[in-house]
Formats: sequence, structure tokens, C-alpha cells
Amino acid sequence: MSKITKDIPHNEYDKQKVYMDRMKERNEAHYSISGNRKNYMILTYGCQMNEHDSERMAGMLNDIGYEVTHDMNTADLIIFNTCLIRENAELKVYGKLGELKHLKKNNPELIIAVCGCMPQKEEVKEYITKKYRHVDLVFGTHNYYKLPEMLDNLLQTSKRIIDVWEDGGDPIEGMPSERKYSFKAFINIMKGCNNFCSYCIVPYTRGREKSRLPEDILSEVIKLAKQGCKEITLLGQNVNSYGKSLENKISFAQLLYMINEVEGIERIRFMTSHPKDLSDELIDAMKNCDKVVEHLHLPFQSGSSKILKRMNRKYTKEQYLELVKKLKTAIPNIALTTDIIVGFPGETEEDFEDTLDVVKKVRFDSAFTFLYSVRKGTPAAEMKDQIPNDVKHKRFDRLLEIMNPISNEINKNMIGQTHEILVEGISKNDESMLSGRTKTFKLVHFKAPKELIGSLVNVKITKAKTWFLEGEMVNRD
Ligand code: SAH
Ligand code: SF4
Ligand code: F3S
Repeated sequence: MSKITKDIPHNEYDKQKVYMDRMKERNEAHYSISGNRKNYMILTYGCQMNEHDSERMAGMLNDIGYEVTHDMNTADLIIFNTCLIRENAELKVYGKLGELKHLKKNNPELIIAVCGCMPQKEEVKEYITKKYRHVDLVFGTHNYYKLPEMLDNLLQTSKRIIDVWEDGGDPIEGMPSERKYSFKAFINIMKGCNNFCSYCIVPYTRGREKSRLPEDILSEVIKLAKQGCKEITLLGQNVNSYGKSLENKISFAQLLYMINEVEGIERIRFMTSHPKDLSDELIDAMKNCDKVVEHLHLPFQSGSSKILKRMNRKYTKEQYLELVKKLKTAIPNIALTTDIIVGFPGETEEDFEDTLDVVKKVRFDSAFTFLYSVRKGTPAAEMKDQIPNDVKHKRFDRLLEIMNPISNEINKNMIGQTHEILVEGISKNDESMLSGRTKTFKLVHFKAPKELIGSLVNVKITKAKTWFLEGEMVNRD
């Protein structure tokens, strides 16, 4: 099966209407005969991009008469929305796909689909289609908006469909979205990535960077605000380069100023920021826009300028530290989080010490730490000086020994302070409590009535751990 490159206009989703109507009719007929709705289950792996794509697929499935289930055994359609970022993400999916063989045997009508980043890699797609014959539908990150059409074709022909595109056109507009929360929402502002960090598979699975039009983003934000949404998270692999692919150039900072005006929205988050594109204009916007939270996720990946060069990150250790200084000066109470890769090819003890040095100097609120994982097809996979696993693991443990106490100390310093929390739901630690996040993205557990889920409350911090805080609700002024 050869790859197809498509140049698709942003309103292409409109063409799905005919398939949606047909699917709906089919599902209504099934309902009127059996009294049961067809059920779907989406298993999502990977980043917020995938989570949001899953929300869109769920939106489409709801529109054509499917109902969600959380029990695989009762599902008529199971979709794996997959991730390829590290080997363990990939292995998880193979494991699950294997387990499904018996389900399909018991229920030949069951439709199993694999989509997302894994099939975007030709050899992974080949492997899935050959090894897992019980998979009916394989598609990618560029054409998932055609889910109704693919389902319709599959049901008509009973022939498995393998359709993965190398790249898409403009970001597709107009898809429905079944959002998990009514009070907070992800909004994609762009797709793809042009940065080609040498370790990373994303530019190969998500294609080239393309921004949505500011008016489309704004109307989505306004619509959400009218529905009661209080917090939005603007998503992109590198939001700092938002607008560069548009005919009428606009910067990410300008977009923030526009969104900051939307009535009803109380908090604006965004991720991810690439240090090489974080401009003074953006720092000013973060400072000036009252709704933009005092939190920035700013991956540094490695503290060694030599490794950063090999990673193709386009900044040095010194430039990163300088950037942090600027941010802390402009926004003194800013919380900084980051991503760090340990054991990149060629990383010496000295290089690793530089990583530890950045952690100690910046004092991040928290960090996602990863063992370097070889991704076939990326330049780093070809580098000769790969680091042995035991060395990677030892360095990883040493990194956490430095990182965790810093997170803990920062959290302890918050005891006694009162913070505004967006209440997100019942606490996972203790069902008698609720939990939510501060503007600085700290998870806080506290006692309060369930009716407050979705609202902003003030909580005085009383207890601090490395990964979360506890507190008591106080009256909002
Ligand atoms: N676009 C974002 C997120 C990319 S993926 C960014 O640029 O930060 C999230 C994180 O996964 C990356 O920041 C990186 O730390 C990690 N990552 C990516 N590829 C990896 C690999 N091959 N091995 C280990 N970690 C990796
Ligand atoms: Fe991957 Fe780098 Fe793009 Fe992030 S910026 S998605 S790490 S290539
Ligand atoms: Fe994974 Fe794809 Fe996101 S590879 S991290 S799901 S963009």
C-alpha cells in the first residue's frame, strides 16, 4: 500500500455529511430492531493532541448514533488512538491488540480500528496490518476526520481498510467534539511540527506545521465560553511558532491578546513552548494578559550545549538559563515545568552533570523525565555512540534524586498560601475529597461539596507532598 499525500482544504469535513447520514440511518435501524445502541470505546495513548483527536472522533461517533462504553466486552467498535514517541508506548498497543483476538472471535461483527501516530510510520503500519489480521481499519493522523466514511465503506464492503496519508492540508474545521469536561477544554491551534529534533518521531507522524486561522480559533473559544468553559489550553507541538504558516502573519502573542478578551474564559494555558521561539513579545503578553496563567512548560531536554546541538534544538545551555531569568524577572511567581531526556547518544558524565546543573539552577516545579528511546527513522537512531541501558537508568535515578526534593520544597513553601483552584472532580486519592489545579498547575485535594466541580474556589494550602498539595476551602472574596 503506497502512501498518499493530500492537499486538503480546511472545510473538507463538510463532505462527511452524506456518510454521517447513512451511518446514522444504519445505527437507528439497529436500535429500533434490537433496542440497543451500538457501543464504541476509544483507547487513547500519547499526548494531548491525541486526546483531542479522540474527543473529535467521539463527537463524530455520537453524532452518528453510537454510544460510549468503558467495557471492551460490550463494544461494537474499538479504536486505538496510538502514540509512537517512545518504544514503551508502542509495545503497550501491541500487547492490547493481541488480547483482542479472542474478542473478535467471539464477536465477528466487532470493528477494531488502529489510528494515530503509529500507522503513520510505514513499517509500523505494515507490521500491524500483517500481524494483527483482526484489525479492520487502519488510518492516520491526517484523515481521521473521515471516520464516518471509512465506517460506512467497511460496513458496505466488509473489506478491511488501510488508509494512511503522508501529510494533510490545512487543519480541518467544523468537526464536533465530545469533550470530557464542560469547564475546561483543549483547543488545537496548529498541527504538525517543523523542528525535527533529532530524537523525535513527531515530525514524521504529524507532518508539517500548519496553523489554524485566528478567526476559527477565536470563534471556537467564544462558543466554548458561552457553554460555560472557564479554562482553555491552546495546543501545538510548538505554539511559539503559531501563525508562521499563515498568509496573514500573526504571532502567538497576538493570538493570546485576542483570546484574553473573550468574556467567560478565566484561564488560558498553552503548550508546548520551544525555547528557541520564545520571544520577548510572548513574555510581555504572558505578563500583560490577566487570564494567561503563571505557568510555563518549557522543555530543555538536556543541559549540555553539545548534546543540544546533536539534538538539533537550536539553543545552548546558557541561552536557556538566560530565558528562564527573563521569565522569572517578568513574572516572579511563574511556575516552570519541563521535559528532560536522559541518555541521548554521546551523553557523557559531564554532559549529564550539565543537565543536573540546569535542574538545580532553574528549580523546576516538576519535570517529565524520559530515558532516551531509539526511534527508527530519526537521525539520533543512527548515531553510533548509543548509551548502555544500565548507564541510562542510573542517570535517570540520579536525576530524580535531585528533581524530587526541589518539587517537594517548592510545594512546602506554599503551605499557608491561599490559591484559586479550578475544581476538576472527585479526588483520586480520597473519594471524600475534591481536587483541582492552581493557576500554576499544582494539583490540590480538599474537602468541598460536589456541586462545586467546575467552579473556581479559594483554597488555603495546609499540606504539601512532592506530587500534590492538600488544603481547606476558604471564602472567595
Ligand atoms: N512538541 C513538544 C512535545 C514532544 S513529545 C516539545 O517539543 O516539547 C514530549 C516529550 O517526549 C519531548 O519533549 C521529549 O522530552 C520526549 N521525547 C521525544 N522523543 C523522545 C525519544 N525518542 N526518547 C525519549 N523521549 C523522547
Ligand atoms: Fe518533537 Fe522537537 Fe517537534 Fe517537539 S519540537 S514535537 S520534540 S521535533
Ligand atoms: Fe505520541 Fe503522536 Fe503525541 S507520537 S506524543 S501521540 S504527537
